[in-house]
Amino acid sequence: MSNRETLVNAAMEARERAYAPYSGYKVGAAVRDGEGRIHAGCNVENISYGLTICAERSALSRMVAGGGTQITEVAVVTADGGAPCGACRQVLLEFAPQASEVTVHVANADGG
Ligand code: THU
Repeated sequence: MSNRETLVNAAMEARERAYAPYSGYKVGAAVRDGEGRIHAGCNVENISYGLTICAERSALSRMVAGGGTQITEVAVVTADGGAPCGACRQVLLEFAPQASEVTVHVANADGG
């Protein structure tokens, strides 16, 4: 399995557990840390909507809690292959290694 497939699969699995009763828009994300470990997350909505946690930030929080300090790769899975929102990009950037590129894979629910 390619690096992309492994990461997309982890995001897809997390997406199945997304809590999105208000928007109906389930998102799964996975980040690979500097040690090659994968941390996955999903969006967790709230009735206030503003307190909703995006999948990318959920995955990143799991990475930090698990001892990861850098991201090397990100995968995001939505129904339509949507890309990370601006707030998530800002938060992801905080853990991107200096002077190096982070690949963001976007996939739809079929992995395409
Ligand atoms: N959402 C994410 O999880 N990540 C993004 O990058 C964009 C939006 C979630 C938030 C909300 O639960 C739903 O998608 C609709 O905006």
